[in-house]
Amino acid sequence: MSEATLPEQIRAHAMGRPDRRRDARLKVTGRATYAVEHETDDTLQAHLVLSTVAKGRIRQIHADEVRELPGVVDVVDHTNAPRVASDADPELAILQDDRVHYRGQVVAVVLAETAEQARAAAQQLRVDYDEEPARTEFDADSEGYEPDSVNAGYETATDKGEVDAALRTAAVVVDETYRTPYEHQMPMEPHATLGRWRGEGETDEDQPTLWLYDSTQGVHPAASTVAELMGLDAADVRVTAPYVGGGFGSKGLPHPQVATVALAAKKHAGRWVRLPVTRQQMFTVTGYRTATVQHVRLGADSDGRLTAVDHRVLEQTSAIKEYGEQTAEVTRHVYATPNLRTAHRLVELDVSVPTWMRAPGVMPGMVGLEIAMDELAERCGIDPIELRRRNEPEVDPESGKPFGHRRLMECFDRGAREFGWEQRASEPRQTLEGDWWVGLGVATSTYPAHPAPGNTATVRSEPGERYTVAIGAADIGTGAWTVLAQIAADALEVDADRVEMRIGDTRDPKATVAGGPTGTSGWGSAIVAAALAFRKEHGDTPPPGLEATADAARNPAYKTFSLHSFGAQFAEVRVNRWTGEIRVPRMLGVFSAGRIVNPRLARSQLIGGMTMGIGAALFEESVRDPRFGHFVTQDLASYHVPAHADIRDVEAVWLDDVDPRANPMGLRGVGEIGIVGATAAVVNAIHHATGVRARSVPVTADELL
Ligand code: MOS
Repeated sequence: MSEATLPEQIRAHAMGRPDRRRDARLKVTGRATYAVEHETDDTLQAHLVLSTVAKGRIRQIHADEVRELPGVVDVVDHTNAPRVASDADPELAILQDDRVHYRGQVVAVVLAETAEQARAAAQQLRVDYDEEPARTEFDADSEGYEPDSVNAGYETATDKGEVDAALRTAAVVVDETYRTPYEHQMPMEPHATLGRWRGEGETDEDQPTLWLYDSTQGVHPAASTVAELMGLDAADVRVTAPYVGGGFGSKGLPHPQVATVALAAKKHAGRWVRLPVTRQQMFTVTGYRTATVQHVRLGADSDGRLTAVDHRVLEQTSAIKEYGEQTAEVTRHVYATPNLRTAHRLVELDVSVPTWMRAPGVMPGMVGLEIAMDELAERCGIDPIELRRRNEPEVDPESGKPFGHRRLMECFDRGAREFGWEQRASEPRQTLEGDWWVGLGVATSTYPAHPAPGNTATVRSEPGERYTVAIGAADIGTGAWTVLAQIAADALEVDADRVEMRIGDTRDPKATVAGGPTGTSGWGSAIVAAALAFRKEHGDTPPPGLEATADAARNPAYKTFSLHSFGAQFAEVRVNRWTGEIRVPRMLGVFSAGRIVNPRLARSQLIGGMTMGIGAALFEESVRDPRFGHFVTQDLASYHVPAHADIRDVEAVWLDDVDPRANPMGLRGVGEIGIVGATAAVVNAIHHATGVRARSVPVTADELL
């Protein structure tokens, strides 16, 4: 492969250092301003009113009864809301008519002088409905339909070779159904939007038509979506988000609360409208991960070499807007097999719209595939790591392209050494220490790299041999403020403390969402392009006030190579023999993710992902009441995410890695690779400890007694 196809690499000086977060002090002293914390004059406080039926029509909203309450300024509903310009996104085209499509739909918003007044009035607002029968659940027998494509444009179904014939003649077969539950992202900072529509006759050229402080993973994508909804040019919508307290995908796209603020602000032009979504409301308003039912069939010869893989997934979507989680897509890239089939079917329900959640598709898909692989290892009598070694593909099984950088077995080998894998009993239910059954489990992790076009950055020279680097990126707690400065410093060949970042505002150049593994890679690529353009135009000792703007260079390597990150997840589990209580005293992830720009922040991302994987294995499950179509788990008590007391020794390490094909920094991103496989590793360790094979998560104590 000629070097000409590789993106021009920058040399690492600042990259690779464990710089502290630039915003750390601001955050721990409460001075980092989150969406609703921006101080604005003349502000209306908003509180959402959500439908209490799953389907039907609004007969009457008794707004008059609450308009008289103290402080109430307005009740905005379908009878008096401004009209949207586009209903292309039915999730956002709200307050337009009397139809109710799911329980938890925004049917009104109360505007008042204080937050308490808005909330009190919203709670008292009576809404009468004509209810219609609704479909709110699905099961393994539901038929579903085949969508045109699944999330991110992947093919819905693939079929290579003769899967059924190969399964009929396979020496060993695993044919099982695996289930993952509804899950909610639950970032620390609840979703919130604060917005203002420019008042009649205001002439300040500097004021956009609509200005939103929004808790978002992408200011530019949010602005263009809202602009389309409201019939504005994207340039007339400003979105600002300097600090965001987590997202996990739920802040990747605007949800109904953003549309609500746009509509209410337009109706009350000239005043700010401040709308915090409550934790309870987040369970319907701001997205969730669909439950999945995965039928996995593996055929292998007696040595454990796969002869067939069949991964078929049933999951749900919303009747108002299709979202197909790409759950089986990952299976197209993991193991060598001559016969491979993947398929997705969606069941349309009268429920709110599912969306991205950390490692969409890949995370639940690798629960099914990796528990099935553990079952195959057991049935073949082969060590689970050895099973994976025997099924390493030469090329990407789906595309036939060479992998750019596949170091999966190196991850397993290093993990096996550091975790003490050779001491693992070959049979399950062998080790009892006191009252605790002890077991070890592994699983593969993988996540694709993406080229992330659509990013632009500006570099400007400042007095004192300093630079400002601007891009409309978002730091959702991942450390973008810090790592982008490290990348810029290396592209400019200066120290990182000479670089000031500007991110989190649509006034800065166009940038894609903090999603997939594309934040650092896509934004960083644009920053490198701008820095190199600056140096070419202005040299390395520029006077202040010069600028260069550039788009990320196109990278043809993605056409030629299959670029994925890999990892090996190891878990130790202890299960109490009397109570079934499950503990995870130890977990190790070994990753190959290309260059690690900042080891301190990358480790935090990786162990955060692994912790979320433990959460999915043991705790996280949103429970829908099929009678009404809402989630009864509506807070962090009933939807438990791991807290410090749940998590012991979780460690992440990585191979010394630079991926010259991925981008000028040689990185592939660390947002998702930590969560993938972590759940299956815990479930497989539970089996090894107890001999009980769980095929649905979360695994609970009662299943182990
Ligand atoms: Mo993120 S929800 O994995 O794009």
